[in-house]
Amino acid sequence: MSNNVVPAGSVAPPGLKGLIVADTAVGTVLGEEGWYHYRGRDATELARTASFETIASLLIDGTEPCTAAATNFAAELSSNRELGADAFDLVVRLSRTDLDPLTVLASVLPLVVDGRPSIDMTHAERRRAVMQAIGAAPTVLGTVNRIRSGGEPVAPDDHTSYAAHFLRAALGRAALPAHTRAVETYLGLTAEHGFNASAFTARVITSTGASVSAAFAGALGALAGPLHGGAPSRVLDMIESIGDPASARAWATAELDAGRKLMGFGHAVYRTADPRSATLKQVALGLGGELVERAAAIETKLLELLAHRKPGAVIVTNVEYYAAVVLHLAGLPQEAFTSTFTASRIVGWGAHILEQARNNKIIRPSARYIAA
Ligand code: ACO
Repeated sequence: MSNNVVPAGSVAPPGLKGLIVADTAVGTVLGEEGWYHYRGRDATELARTASFETIASLLIDGTEPCTAAATNFAAELSSNRELGADAFDLVVRLSRTDLDPLTVLASVLPLVVDGRPSIDMTHAERRRAVMQAIGAAPTVLGTVNRIRSGGEPVAPDDHTSYAAHFLRAALGRAALPAHTRAVETYLGLTAEHGFNASAFTARVITSTGASVSAAFAGALGALAGPLHGGAPSRVLDMIESIGDPASARAWATAELDAGRKLMGFGHAVYRTADPRSATLKQVALGLGGELVERAAAIETKLLELLAHRKPGAVIVTNVEYYAAVVLHLAGLPQEAFTSTFTASRIVGWGAHILEQARNNKIIRPSARYIAA
């Protein structure tokens, strides 16, 4: 952690916005420039060109892409796909409740992951626990979707990619290669994104010395919020409600007048185009179709309106807007959108958990008392 970045007694900005609270080598987001990286490497370039496993290996271990170590990482990750009988039974049981998929994953991880306090583990043991969680996540999240869609769970196949495995578990069949690659690009784009609410939560919990699965559970809780990971399914609702792009302005004006946010727009850090959105828009255009064209036309209208209504703010299209379109085209139901984001971001959380535990200081800020 950084030493006393803020002088004692000073008051942090609301939401800690812009405040530097730690040093990290995992990656960073340069909001003014519209650029972010994974351990110094252009993240969008990686997402466009590399497998998700390559990106995960870089984030978790700092492994150079296209090396034997990256290949070994992929094999190690896929060896963690299969759930034990207890964990599998719990997934099946919880899939038949109305718990959201992220809560199911948080409930199952303690059965999958070494549950000792992280403070009592070596780095290698914590890394192993992180790999167990990442390996199991697409199986759990995919299986929840499969069961809720009325299908039978499918046994994991260790020889498919992470993205293909997630889609197969979720859909009960192999996805088309173009859809698999589109979803893999999305996973690569969203694997890590600085000190967002869920990564910060994972670090706070890790800083107490609690277990790796407790840190993941906290991160899952944070990601479930509509302002963080819950946006993409609401984006699709919005596009469907608007229907004809000619209605976009009137529809969105009513939403803003009612004090609601337009989903898929705005970002806490980006002050110019969100590079993830630009990349996913290209992916969506590559898949093509009526929905893509309509989404692009609606996007233009909503950006115009937001610029008019909030002239002092820079509100850009965020990653969730075209994520909704791409995931829908890949055959995933809306209920599985946040799960897909989770199957990706769990890698970033893992990197943050390992980094925090390696150089730990309990995170304990203060609040200013104000009389009610
Ligand atoms: N619709 C309407 N108004 C907005 C939107 C939006 N989508 N985004 C920002 N604004 C408004 C803010 O309310 C604020 O208004 P104010 O000055 O009157 O209070 C102004 O624009 C400036 O906001 P920012 O400081 O730039 O953004 P902030 O950090 O407050 O919020 C957030 C960021 C939470 C993402 C917000 O843009 C939002 O709620 N967007 C919709 C939900 C969404 O798409 N979430 C996914 C984010 S991406 C991710 O987490 C992976």
